[in-house]
Amino acid sequence: MNKQLTFLMCSPRGDKSASHSIGSYLVSLFEEKEIIVKTFGVYKTLKNQEKTEEMIKSIDDSDIVLISSPLYIDQAPYMTIKLMDIISEVFQQGKLSNKTRHLFAISNAGFLEYYHNSLVLKIYEQFAKKNDLIWAGGLPIGAAGTYATYPIPEFLKMMEQLPEDDYRQEIYNKPTKILDSVIRSSVKHLSKGEIVPKDDLQKLEFIPMPLESYVKGANSTWPEAAKQFGAEDKLRDKPYER
Ligand SMILES: Cc1cc2nc3c(=O)[nH]c(=O)nc-3n(C[C@H](O)[C@H](O)[C@H](O)COP(=O)(O)O)c2cc1C
Repeated sequence: MNKQLTFLMCSPRGDKSASHSIGSYLVSLFEEKEIIVKTFGVYKTLKNQEKTEEMIKSIDDSDIVLISSPLYIDQAPYMTIKLMDIISEVFQQGKLSNKTRHLFAISNAGFLEYYHNSLVLKIYEQFAKKNDLIWAGGLPIGAAGTYATYPIPEFLKMMEQLPEDDYRQEIYNKPTKILDSVIRSSVKHLSKGEIVPKDDLQKLEFIPMPLESYVKGANSTWPEAAKQFGAEDKLRDKPYER
């Protein structure tokens, strides 16, 4: 019988989010391995009792539960916490059948540094342990917004066109290739009912670009935005000091 996976997509930004983009990429790889996937957009699901019950039933039938969530203020967003509360309650009430289920998580941070996700991944691990789920590990994604704009396979194809000495090879192509290989290895292990080895996940523990480039890139949008309001010479104003 085919294995089943429940994909819990926890971003309010829906299809435009990194949580959706990266999570869906894993889903497509699981589907290649003939794993049946049921997807739930958590924001819509939890507002609807029938959908919530459908989600619980799907978790009950699943071998793998995949959470993909944004990072908000170094934490899981309110709806992701509410989701964990609802799932914990049904586990604690003994409403789910006895079955081996793995939990795998993707945490998507806006900042460059992967380690902003460390605390929340520990929380997902505790959530698994408290609820008879086997903690299979998690992906600590930094600069996740990149993948909200471009899905990983599309992004890698774009990077293939770049000359070898283009600076983007180092700060985008190389990190994305590492992420892709960790994702593929994670899917391979999870599909076989295994946890993902820590050594594999630790390959994501690097900072993809110098902080100055990130700040420069982020700041470069301000003058353009200010221009629309004729305020490009006012960006350094400090009206509160007057
Ligand atoms: C309310 C709020 C709080 C955030 N807090 C953090 C944070 O503490 N650290 C961080 O790296 N990014 C933070 N971000 C950025 C998001 O984690 C980032 O944009 C991420 O890619 C969002 O995931 P999504 O595209 O799946 O919604 C925050 C964003 C919002 C809206």
